[in-house]
Amino acid sequence: MATFGSGNHNRRNINSGLSTEFERLLVGQPGVAKQMLPFVEMFEAGLSPEGRPAGVFLLLGPTGTGKTRTVEALAESLHGSARNILRIDCGEYQMDHEVAKLVGAPPGYLGHRETQPLLSQARINSVASDRSALAILLFDEIEKAAPSMMRMLLGVLDRGILRLGDNNLVNLERTMIFLTSNLGADNMQKELVPTMGFAAVAAKDDAVPGNKRLESIGLAAARKKFSPEFMNRIDACIAYSPLDDKALMRILDLQIESIQNHIDLRLGARAFELEVSSKLKRYLLDKGTSMRYGARELKRTIQRMVLQPLAGVINNGQVPPGSLVDMDLKNGEKILIRIHSNDEEDD
Ligand SMILES: Nc1ncnc2c1ncn2[C@@H]1O[C@H](COP(=O)(O)OP(=O)(O)OP(=O)(O)O)[C@@H](O)[C@H]1O
Ligand SMILES: [Mg+2]
Repeated sequence: MATFGSGNHNRRNINSGLSTEFERLLVGQPGVAKQMLPFVEMFEAGLSPEGRPAGVFLLLGPTGTGKTRTVEALAESLHGSARNILRIDCGEYQMDHEVAKLVGAPPGYLGHRETQPLLSQARINSVASDRSALAILLFDEIEKAAPSMMRMLLGVLDRGILRLGDNNLVNLERTMIFLTSNLGADNMQKELVPTMGFAAVAAKDDAVPGNKRLESIGLAAARKKFSPEFMNRIDACIAYSPLDDKALMRILDLQIESIQNHIDLRLGARAFELEVSSKLKRYLLDKGTSMRYGARELKRTIQRMVLQPLAGVINNGQVPPGSLVDMDLKNGEKILIRIHSNDEEDD
């Protein structure tokens, strides 16, 4: 496991790679890297202040614009896997008594022995890696959390320490905490839709750096919901903009790229090359993305329109190893698959 103060030279190299990789994975939200990565740098340099988490971020904005993806992209670029995240779905902690699942029941209480606290030191340490000691902790949909959970969180943000039900202390100084919320997203949507529509606003982004209008809507909603003490302990509130067509196309390309990686990795000697025509890509974007849901439905659309038909031809033994599988759209909505074997390509 990486430790403070050692291997700084190595780490500096990792860091320049980190921002490139992060910005490759998170599309069309340039403000995010700018606000968040300096805190990662500080941590890696051993300069994070003591007695609090290494960074606390509130991610606000419309659905499907990359809030959760941000946290995965950081885990992927920092630890090499998007799974290195301890994720707490606050929707599961809407009642005060449910917080015991996070911190464990006090001794003597019913269920004390059975409840393994979700926020134990071991679980937090397990999402760090030998590439970085920084553990990523995600509280999704924070607006749903019960008041007792908010109090617990306030303590964590304040001191970087959590007291468990059994009185053991958990140190969260080596964690970066992300809180995501759709607070204000409805108002952001209203601000965008009736006036000029999605494309016009996306185009306008150049004129309004960082999409300040949306940020102030998000912030106002957060201030209304959370106490000033809570807001004061957040290092940065980051507002996500709706994604424009170019960003959505890049997200689609990234997802197709990751299918190719999967094919190369998992199919071994049976691997083949996948090509998706621009007509089909256009269709996937039309079906899988929208102003309302951003890129949220894109994965499912790809699953239905690309992966499932692909699985069909693979299982029929129609795809020789090393061939080129060319997927296209016919008559507006029929998926067409052409398979060019290796020999054919040589002609
Ligand atoms: N900016 C982005 N860069 C890369 N991929 C993205 C981006 N935005 C969305 N996606 C894709 O869409 C999917 C849904 O995005 P994500 O889960 O980040 O949405 P969200 O903002 O957290 O929405 P919600 O508020 O509904 O939780 C992601 O898994 C990812 O594949
Ligand atoms: Mg999310």
